[in-house]
Amino acid sequence: MFKKEKTMNGNFTKDKKFIGKMFDELSPMYDFNNHLLSGGQDLLWRKKAVKHLTNNHVKSETILDLASGSGDLAVEFLRLEPNKLVCADLSLEMLKINNNKINNKNHIAIQTDAGSLPFEDNTFDITGISFGVRNFENLETCIKEIYRTLKPGGLFLTIEMFGNRSPSFINKIFGFYFKKILPKIGNLLSKSKYAYFYLFDSVDTFLSAGEYTKLTEKCGFKTYWHKNNFINIVHTVIVQKPV
Ligand SMILES: C[S@@+](CC[C@H](N)C(=O)[O-])C[C@H]1O[C@@H](n2cnc3c(N)ncnc32)[C@H](O)[C@@H]1O
Repeated sequence: MFKKEKTMNGNFTKDKKFIGKMFDELSPMYDFNNHLLSGGQDLLWRKKAVKHLTNNHVKSETILDLASGSGDLAVEFLRLEPNKLVCADLSLEMLKINNNKINNKNHIAIQTDAGSLPFEDNTFDITGISFGVRNFENLETCIKEIYRTLKPGGLFLTIEMFGNRSPSFINKIFGFYFKKILPKIGNLLSKSKYAYFYLFDSVDTFLSAGEYTKLTEKCGFKTYWHKNNFINIVHTVIVQKPV
C-alpha cells in the first residue's frame, strides 16, 4: 500500500507507519547487512564520533539514543558511563534486538516517534542519532523536540548519509554502485522488494550536511564539531544547545 507512494521529497512516503513497518521487516538482517554493505565502516564512524565526546570529557549522565534501532550507537555511548541510557525508536522489532544487545542496568528501550518525545524539558546531556534523521517525516519538528529535551549546554550528535549537491568523480562512481548495485544486493539479502530502493531515494533527496547544520541552527543550536567521514556523503555533525 505504501510502496512507491509519491511524495514531495521523492518516491517514498516517510509516513511513520510505513517507516516502522519497513524497519520491523528489516530487523532480522539489519546488523548483518549494515556491516557487510558498508564494509564495517558504519561501526568505525559511530566509534569515532563517540570517541570525540570522550576525548573532550563532555557531560554524559543522561543520554538519549534516538532512532536507536538495533543499538549500535548505544553500545558506543556505554563508554561514556551514563547513569541513564534511553534508546528510543518507532520499530518494536528493532527495539527487541536493542534490548538483547545492550545488557546494562542503566539502559531502557522505549517505542516512540522522534516528533513527539515523551520526556520533560532539559532532560538529556547528549542526544545521538545515527542514520535516523533522513527517515523523519517532519525533520524540523523532531530537531525542536531534541532541543527542548536537551539540557542547556547539551550536545546533539548526528551521523548520517547526506545528499550531495556537487558530486565529484568519485561520488559519481559511488553513486552508480549506490543506485544500481547496492539496492539489488540489499533487497535480496533482506528479502525486501523495496527497502534498499528507499535507502537510495532517502539519501538522494535528503539535505546536504551544510543545509542540515543550518536547519539545526534555525532551531537554536550552535555548531560544535563537524567531520566528513566518507566522500562528502557520510558526515558526523555535533551541535550544542546554548547554555
Ligand atoms: C537506518 S536505522 C538506524 C538505526 C541505528 N541508529 C543505527 O545506527 O544502526 C533507522 C532507525 O530509525 C527509526 N526511525 C525512523 N523514523 C523514526 C521516527 N520518526 N521516530 C523514531 N524512530 C524512527 C527506524 O525505526 C530505524 O530503526
